[in-house]
Order: sequence, then C-alpha cells, then structure tokens
Amino acid sequence: MPFSLHELEHPIVQAPMGGGASTPALAAAVSEAGGLGFLAAGYKTVDQVERELAEVRSAMSAGVPYGLNLFAPPGHGTGKAEVSSYADSLRTDAQAQGVDLGDTRWDDDGYGEKLDLICEQRVPVVSLTFGCPAPFEVSRLQSSGSAVWVTVTTVGEASAASADALVVQGVEAGGHRGGFDDAHPGDVGLLALLQLVQAAVDDGLPIIAAGGLMTGRGIAAVLACGAMAAQLGTLHALSRSGNGARSTGHDEPRRSTHCAHPSVHGPDSPWHRQPVPSRPRRRA
Ligand SMILES: Cc1cc2nc3c(=O)[nH]c(=O)nc-3n(C[C@H](O)[C@H](O)[C@H](O)COP(=O)(O)O)c2cc1C
Repeated sequence: MPFSLHELEHPIVQAPMGGGASTPALAAAVSEAGGLGFLAAGYKTVDQVERELAEVRSAMSAGVPYGLNLFAPPGHGTGKAEVSSYADSLRTDAQAQGVDLGDTRWDDDGYGEKLDLICEQRVPVVSLTFGCPAPFEVSRLQSSGSAVWVTVTTVGEASAASADALVVQGVEAGGHRGGFDDAHPGDVGLLALLQLVQAAVDDGLPIIAAGGLMTGRGIAAVLACGAMAAQLGTLHALSRSGNGARSTGHDEPRRSTHCAHPSVHGPDSPWHRQPVPSRPRRRA
C-alpha cells in the first residue's frame, strides 16, 4: 500500500532542506515522533543519498514512513550566456568577499541516477522540486511503491502537475522557490494560494501546505484551509538534529499532543506551548 497522509499521527512534514539541514537524524526523529521526516537529495551524489537512506532506515523502527526530495530538471538548461552575465553582475561583490564564482555550467543534479536509486530502494514518499516530472516518471515511481508529491507555487503549476499530492509553497517559504514555471513565478501568500489551488484541482487531491508556518496556530490555519498536512522547514532547521542546530537539552524521544517533535525541539519551541492537531496513527 502506498503511503497515505492519514498514516501520520501528527499532520506535520519536516520540509526537505538541501545544503545540510535535512540530516538523517532529524528525519528519523520527526518520523518516529509521528510526523513525516524528509531527506534532501539535492546537491548530493547518488552514493551520498544511498548512505543517507540506509542511515535513516537504521535509525527508525520498521515500517515508519519517511520521504526523499529530489530536484527535477526544469525541462531546459538556462543559456550559458545568461548565467555568465548573471555571474558577471556578482563579480565585484564576490571579489570583495574573496569568493570564487566558479564555472558556469548546467547539470541535472544526477536526476536519472537518483530516480533509479529511489525505485530500487522503494522510498515511501518522493517529493519533486523545480521541475514537473513526466507522467512516465511518476508512474515508474508509483509502481515501485512511492507516493509522488510535486511542489507548486502557482495555480498553473498545480493544474499541470500529475501527482499523488501537491506541496503548495507560499511566497513566505524559506529557501528557494520550488516551482517550475519560470515564465510565471509565483508570489502569492500561502493562505490565498491554498484556496486558489483547491478551486482549480480535483477535490480530494491531498495538499501539503508550506511557507512561514512556525506555530500550532499557523498549522491549524492551513488545516482549516483544506491542507492535509503542514510542511515546516525553517523551524526544523533550528532544531538540535538539523544542522542549523542549537542545543535543546532534550535527549529522550517523548510524545505529547503539545509537541509534535519533542525529540528535536526544546522547551522554548512553540510546540511546547500550543497544542497541535493529532490523529490515531496507522502504520503500514
Ligand atoms: C535552508 C533551506 C533549504 C531548502 N531546500 C529545499 C530543497 O532542497 N528541496 C525542497 O523541495 N525545498 C527546500 N526548501 C523549502 C522547504 O522544503 C519548505 O518549502 C520551506 O522551508 C517552507 O517554509 P518555512 O521555511 O517558512 O517553513 C528549503 C528551505 C530551507 C529553509
């Protein structure tokens, strides 16, 4: 049975964060606490991703779901001249900071090899960002047992994506924008975008809301607005297990309806002060 958001005890997804914050320890702690932890494959080699998959599985009980995020190619490479001219515009600042701009080049971040790995390893949830996967790629992932989520930032992208669920990313979101239509970049706030997307897509298509969610109140707002789960990035990056970490002083995993991820958040976290919605957990 493919993963369903109904399996989660808490409707909370730890956002994938390329560049270091999405550690296997963080993903495992979030999934074990009843949310959905995510690894980020972006910028990593296939071998690194394979190692992280092994690490996250060995840190969790059997059958606990987790996700892996993949950069999907946006369909075309930006022209070398365009990138070079952008790099030129940064050169003075870079030199002042002693930073090497590197070579301008386009690559697909090992997309094909990473897809092969995911299919081989039967990853429960795969979310794609920056590109809209082709229908045959979605079917291939689904046949190997993955639920496929696509990140969208506009109504147009939501209508174009074929997936098991949409990650609707409002303009408030941390990190870079995850949409794939460069001609019409999304700049709509999360609550407005959720309503617009739901009016445009099939009833019943699960939606995960992302962008600026930091509190139980924020999570409740997006659930009331029709999302099935809230995806939080910046807040998790600040946790002990995320690499942006500061120590929280909590060592033992605990569960409570006031704290979605007690093993990764400290006593100052808003989770400790505001109840978050929870529901009975069903494991595969
Ligand atoms: C440091 C950082 C890195 C991110 N990297 C990725 C990524 O690799 N893939 C992705 O789909 N989203 C990435 N995101 C976006 C998050 O998945 C999520 O949409 C966003 O963090 C939600 O907004 P919030 O940070 O306000 O909670 C990143 C966000 C941050 C803060």
